[in-house]
Amino acid sequence: MKVLGIVCSPRKGGNTEVLVQEALRAAAEHGAETELFSVAGRDLRPCDGCAACRRTMKCHIKDDMQALYPKLAEAQGIVMGTPVYFYSVTAQAKIVMDRTYLFLRNATNLRGKVGGVIAVAGRAGAGNANMLMEGFMVLHRMHPVGGLVAHSGGAGVAEADPEENPQADKGRVAGDERAMADAFRLGRNVVRQLQRDGVK
Ligand SMILES: Cc1cc2nc3c(=O)[nH]c(=O)nc-3n(C[C@H](O)[C@H](O)[C@H](O)COP(=O)(O)O)c2cc1C
Repeated sequence: MKVLGIVCSPRKGGNTEVLVQEALRAAAEHGAETELFSVAGRDLRPCDGCAACRRTMKCHIKDDMQALYPKLAEAQGIVMGTPVYFYSVTAQAKIVMDRTYLFLRNATNLRGKVGGVIAVAGRAGAGNANMLMEGFMVLHRMHPVGGLVAHSGGAGVAEADPEENPQADKGRVAGDERAMADAFRLGRNVVRQLQRDGVK
């Protein structure tokens, strides 16, 4: 059983990474093989809508999505995490979602995979981001088992203070016991669902 964690923050070692890592730690403790893919420092280009993938089953854009495709295909569980950017997911998270268009109606697809979503906001908008990721999973006929909303206490958009160190909240969520416990539970629940589905 493989569980893939996708960290959609461009900030290495940030709050999203902390929580996705915690979910993967739980998944590993409960018997899954785990892997983390971070978008940080990756070359990820947006879908150009050519839709050729519906015919060719391949994406012609040669960037780091090519490394993610086989990982998505092989994993039975997918935990996707994003920071909240302007009440939404990051641009990188949106690229990852859009570029999975090739899995629709493909013999290799995301159907039946078990999902979990994690959104971390400074203050507001995490529910919205989770809803977007869950919608993505539902459209792929995946089975999302839950979502985690966390707050890092960083500047939100409306509240951004030019005097504040914008990196002050980096990794701060590691000190939020409740968020960490929720992340652990999410990883465990992904594995439990996979076990119920008969995945070894
Ligand atoms: C461009 C940008 C937009 C942001 N928009 C929001 C927002 O709409 N609401 C909010 O509460 N926090 C917002 N934040 C704060 C981040 O969501 C917060 O710092 C989060 O913990 C970052 O996660 P990371 O450490 O995984 O990158 C924004 C940060 C950036 C850089």
